[in-house]
Amino acid sequence: MFHVAIIMDGNGRWASQRSLPRLAGHREGAEALRRTVQAAPGLGVTDLTVYAFSSDNWSRPVSEVNGLMRLLARFLPAETSRCLENGVRVSAIGRRDRLPGPVLRALDAIEFQTRAQQRLHLRVALDYSSRDRIRAGDLAPDVDLMIRTAGEQRLSDFLLWEAAYAEFHFTQRLWPDFQGADLAAAVADFNRRQRRFGGLPAGYCGIHA
Ligand code: FPP
Repeated sequence: MFHVAIIMDGNGRWASQRSLPRLAGHREGAEALRRTVQAAPGLGVTDLTVYAFSSDNWSRPVSEVNGLMRLLARFLPAETSRCLENGVRVSAIGRRDRLPGPVLRALDAIEFQTRAQQRLHLRVALDYSSRDRIRAGDLAPDVDLMIRTAGEQRLSDFLLWEAAYAEFHFTQRLWPDFQGADLAAAVADFNRRQRRFGGLPAGYCGIHA
């Protein structure tokens, strides 16, 4: 298993740089997600978890929240056949009880239709708070590589437990500009790290006990 998690940040900045509404940034963000899902299996990624909507995102203006929910309700059904062609299983993590009906129905449908796919497991974090998940004992697999775009360097209540031994990769790239090559660069960065999980480097033979 090689589990990559991504905090997809910078959609709003991408849009404002172009004097576009924030939702235009989220739409481009969905395109970037499609590219990333396409590139991931070729880089050895078996599990990909993306932060699409945090439980704290409900505090954004209602127009932005509604726009994001509409985007999700459209994006998931539109991507189902591509997922089936590419062996991608899609599931959601997070609370389901506050999601609008159309999003919930789109999620139920894509989860059911892609349940047997085995090349890549895409987990979409929706109404997600890691602190809540930990309290509920509802955990995802351990994360190997955590990527955050747009220059921020914090976890923002995402996979706190699961990232205990994750390697971190931060990039200035805004999420809508993220390409397969950026994922490849992050994976190459990860492969240069020496993971020790609290132990000593492999082959270490110091003389002191
Ligand atoms: C962060 O950018 C992004 C989000 C809060 C939403 C992520 C959503 C997508 C990538 C698109 C939709 C996803 C799916 C699964 C269809 P920001 O708005 O915080 O950007 P800013 O920090 O520049 O304001």
